Amino acid sequence: MKIKDKVLERLIKKKGMRVSGEQLASELSVSRTAIWKHINVLREEGYMIDSSTNLGYSLIETPDTLTPGEIKAGLKTEIIGKDIRYFKETESTNIIACEIAEKVDEGTLVIAESQTQGRGRLGRKWISPEGGIWLSVILKPKILPLHAPRITFLAGVSVSRTIRSFGLPAKIKWPNDILINGKKVCGILTEIRAETDLIDYIVVGVGIDANVDTESFPDEIKDSSTSLKKEKGDKINRVDFVRKLLEEFDGLYLKFRKEGFKSILEEWRNMSATIGEWVKISTQTRTIYGEAIGVDNEGALILETGDGQIEKIVAGSCEHLRRT
Ligand code: BTN
Repeated sequence: MKIKDKVLERLIKKKGMRVSGEQLASELSVSRTAIWKHINVLREEGYMIDSSTNLGYSLIETPDTLTPGEIKAGLKTEIIGKDIRYFKETESTNIIACEIAEKVDEGTLVIAESQTQGRGRLGRKWISPEGGIWLSVILKPKILPLHAPRITFLAGVSVSRTIRSFGLPAKIKWPNDILINGKKVCGILTEIRAETDLIDYIVVGVGIDANVDTESFPDEIKDSSTSLKKEKGDKINRVDFVRKLLEEFDGLYLKFRKEGFKSILEEWRNMSATIGEWVKISTQTRTIYGEAIGVDNEGALILETGDGQIEKIVAGSCEHLRRT
């Protein structure tokens, strides 16, 4: 971690209280002048830091940004978020994550305030303005490539748990859209690089319309999408949200490595908005209507079609239909 981030971490831990320049200098093994320079850079980044000659520095206000120093202060994870790559704006955190994946440690996080070429599932565009949470986590699990969707399910459960901890009734629409009151608030795009039976890396991209104004949504998604701010009636603290999400993700990933997928799938099923619904599934080759009666152990959707046939759908887009 850079010295500037370490200074910030200490100020955040003691927010509202004084930390002396001398103490910071000795803890970080640099001069008091160096500390003073880092404080000034932080001020330029929007941190309001009070200083007095004898008493030291005190953090008064933090900017609403998802900078590494902000997220790492008090972050309790073992793997995810140890290394954070932050961008004010980037084309797509998934693109960056795929570019660096081979050279960085498992758990590295790429996060941006906005994306210019956000990628969605099935080749769609993903609108990513400021106020949202756009992030990608790089993982290197020792599992077969055919089991990679398990990691997407794990991410869906982590997001859903996090939204619920903010007091909102999140559910999961198959395969991995997170809904609040029937409207989409989050999408997940997993990209994988693998040899025949070995995964090099998985990039899990998560896009959450956090403090985004729903009036700014394009017409095609206006009726079917929402934001955390809209559902809550107020802005949420994005740093707290990201920290909680990384902690949930980290905890579930460790559990997955130790105990396997069973309990995670069970939790996914309990959070499912799709099981029990009449759905329209569109795959690359066909459209199928039926009742979603479950998901199998790999996460494929089990459908009972109108003529009583059972079908398993591995990939496709899913629309919930109103019951007649
Ligand atoms: C979907 O179509 O539902 C998936 C959307 C995934 C969007 C996220 S935002 C962060 C990451 N970077 C991207 O370009 N896409 C994913």
